[in-house]
Formats: sequence, C-alpha cells, structure tokens
Amino acid sequence: MPSVFIKTYGCQMNERDSEAVAAQLVAKGYTIAASEKTADVVLLNTCSVRDNAEQKALMKMENLAGNFRKRRPDVVLGFMGCMAQSRGQELIDKLPDVDLVLGTQKFHRAAEYLDELLAGRQKKIVDVAEEQGSEGTIKEHLLNGTAKSAVTAFVSIMQGCNQYCTFCIVPHTRGEERSRTIPDIVAECRELVSRGVKEITLLGQIVTSYGKRGWSPSFSLSEHPQTPDTLKRGLQLSPFVQLIEAVHEIDGLERIRFTSPHPKGYGDDLVAAYARLPKLCESAHLPVQSGSDRVLKLMHRGYTRERFLEIIRKLRAAKPDIGLTTDIIVGFPGETEEDFEQTLSLAREAEFDNAFLFKYSPRRDTPAAAMPDQLAEDVIEARHARLLEVINEIGARRYRKLVGERVQILVEGPSRNNDARMTGRTRCGRIVVFDGNARHRGELMDVKIERAGLFTLYGDPAVVNL
Ligand code: SAH
Ligand code: F3S
Repeated sequence: MPSVFIKTYGCQMNERDSEAVAAQLVAKGYTIAASEKTADVVLLNTCSVRDNAEQKALMKMENLAGNFRKRRPDVVLGFMGCMAQSRGQELIDKLPDVDLVLGTQKFHRAAEYLDELLAGRQKKIVDVAEEQGSEGTIKEHLLNGTAKSAVTAFVSIMQGCNQYCTFCIVPHTRGEERSRTIPDIVAECRELVSRGVKEITLLGQIVTSYGKRGWSPSFSLSEHPQTPDTLKRGLQLSPFVQLIEAVHEIDGLERIRFTSPHPKGYGDDLVAAYARLPKLCESAHLPVQSGSDRVLKLMHRGYTRERFLEIIRKLRAAKPDIGLTTDIIVGFPGETEEDFEQTLSLAREAEFDNAFLFKYSPRRDTPAAAMPDQLAEDVIEARHARLLEVINEIGARRYRKLVGERVQILVEGPSRNNDARMTGRTRCGRIVVFDGNARHRGELMDVKIERAGLFTLYGDPAVVNL
C-alpha cells in the first residue's frame, strides 16, 4: 500500500485535521512515511492567517515539485486546508506539479481522491466546495500513530467563524459557524478516554459561539436520550457550557481544556464553570488583539478594553492561579503610538503568562487590507520588539513565582529536547521538564518546581512521589 507524509502549518485545528486525515488513510491501508523523501503521497496542510505561512507552504511545494518530483514522477502532491480553500485552482495554475487541492470541508474525501490519482483514473482534483455536515467529519484519531496510546487529544467541536474580524481570513477559509451535537462530541471523547486519553482539548475558531448557530434542525438537546439529567436541569446555560458539563461527566477523563474562546461571548456561566467543574483546568487562552478601544472597534472585535479586563478579573476571582495567555496583533492599520501604548499597558495590567504576538499581515478580501494608514514594516518591527520584551518580562516573573511550589502535572512523554527527561503540564498549562521514567506517562503526579526558564519549569518528582 502507498505511504503518505503530511506536513502541517498553522494552528491546533490544522494539527487536528491532519491527524484525522492520517487516521482515515491508515484505516484504508496506507502507511505513514517517516519523511517526505520516502513517501508516495505528500500533503501540505496549509495556513492562510498570515502571508508568511502561505509563503512557507508555497516554497515547500516548489521544492518538492523541483528536486523531488523529477526523481520520483509517480509521487502525488497535494495542498489541503485553508490556503487550498481560499486559492483553489489557482494553486495548480501556479504550480502545475500539484495533483490535489482539498478544501477545509473536504478532508474526509482525501482517501477516495488519492485512490483516483494513484490509480491514474484522474489527473488533477480540486475540491473546495461547501459540504453540509462536514463539521461532523473530523472525528477519527490516530493518537500519535504509536502503539502507546496518547495521553492528550484534540476534539473538534465546530467549524467556521461568523465574527468577521476585519483583519482575519478565517471566515473565508473555514466558512460559516457549524457546530457538532453534544452527543456526537461526547461519544468521541468517551472513545478517546477508553483508549487511554486523560486530557481533552475542545477545539474551534470561536468556541464561545458553539451551538449558537447551525445546529442540525433535528437535534434538540432537552429531548435527546443521551442528554444527562444534570444538563436537562441546566438548559439555561450556554450551549458551550452545556457541552463542557457533558464531557465532564466522562469517567476516567482527568482534564478538560478548550481553545479559543472569544471575549465577546465570554459569559458568567463560563467563568462559573471553572469554579464548579474540577476537571476544567485553570488555564485560558483569550485573544485580546489590542489594548486600544479605537483599534478594537476598527478590528470589529465586539468588546472594549475594560470588558476584556473585567473578564480577566472575574476569572482570577474564580481561580486565582489561572494561567492566562493571549494573541496580540501589532501594527494594525492606523495604529498610533498612543494606541500601541494602550496595548503595552493592557499587557502589564492583565499579566499574561504568555502572549503570541503577530505582526499585522494584510489578507485578501478582508476590510483591514483596504484601510488607510497601513504601517511601515520597521514601525511594526520596533513595536513588536517592545511588546515582546514586556511579555517576556511578565512571563518570566510569573513562572519564577512557582519555584519552590508543589504542583500537579499530567505526564505526557519524553521531553522534546532531551529524550532522557520527561515532560508534563501543570493544570494552568505550563510545561514542566523533570527526570522521570517512561512508565509515568499518562499519570497525574506532583512535582516540586526547582527552577524556572523562559516559559519552561524544571521540577523534581522525587521529593513528593516515592
Ligand atoms: N479564532 C482563532 C483565531 C485564528 S487566527 C483562534 O482564536 O484561534 C489566530 C491568531 O492569528 C489571531 O488571534 C490573531 O492574533 C492572528 N491573526 C489573524 N489574522 C491576522 C493577520 N491578518 N495578521 C496578523 N495576525 C493575524
Ligand atoms: Fe478570525 Fe475573529 Fe473569527 S480572529 S477566527 S474572525 S473571532
């Protein structure tokens, strides 16, 4: 049977999609190639959020087509995911060696299309059509493809986004918001837990909008036989909190996380869920994008700086140790020095554990790309460096505070940089590296934090786990 290599760019949703495609292909008899060099099929799962993510995938494909295709003419090359969706046929016009362009609602067709291409029945396939029900098709798991089961897993709960932030291409590449049903998601989570998974991260572009649109008309939560009684009583909760409650009831599941919520839909019921549900880990990734009300409005974010800070205060009141991370865009069109200083001061006030900083990148078909006063690259660069310094300084301080503390971690596996050491995560989402043994994989254990690096903690389990 043919072998496949999938290279993934971009976010966790893309990682999850790649895993589902790999699982689908393995179920059809494909093997996973250790590298592109030996693969019969090479798929690039692409990201469009910033121009450099697209350029990386395009360059990679040019290299594959150039060096590699000449030597191995039968190799099948494909783009899938966000850039495939937004550029479609144009990708084949630009790179004629590409055989397959598979959009974001068509991942489940990968095996069928590859069969056609490998058998020579079709020469090129481009499928970027919308497909009703496609949100329910990302459900197969490979769990790292290893014999040992994975400890953590991602579960896709919805597709798309209707927020239309003026800088963002995602609503164009992922389509309208469509949510899977709670019983469907719970069934997938149960299956994962039965295979040894201890921690589940619920994924969506805007999970706080889960279930607000696009429920299948035949689905009524209150009448569904699998809806637990606790939920029937709690139907005034937002659909997303109802989902967390339902997942929380799964025996054997230890930890729940989710990403990404949106400040606009961050209700008090979600804040209260942290206090009420012990498996819901006290960490939150809450993208703020800017600290200036003027810029937030231009971005069409739907909240103010004060509202964002209020959510954070409430979260900290519910869980004082909560780990908070965010996304910030630097250099949005028209961002003044004063606007930027508002972002710096918000970062200081919010005291994030960490923040992902992005230099604004104009995206096709987005309103921000046509706004006046696009900033010069050197201005963006300089602001990015200033903000990074503040974020790193605050992060380092927050990490240092844990030295000497005893914290619970879930052991995930060997450390990426050093096979002899193990790594796990605290409930608040921080990585801890320690001298451990592979047999601890999947265990919750207490460690004492001995020292802190930049965004990594070093722990000693021996003190507390003998
Ligand atoms: N809702 C998704 C957002 C996906 S995009 C989520 O929260 O995961 C991820 C991040 O990329 C955004 O939060 C934003 O900070 C950044 N981003 C999106 N479009 C961008 C652009 N045009 N330029 C720079 N950064 C961008
Ligand atoms: Fe993009 Fe804004 Fe949605 S950042 S994914 S349009 S919430």
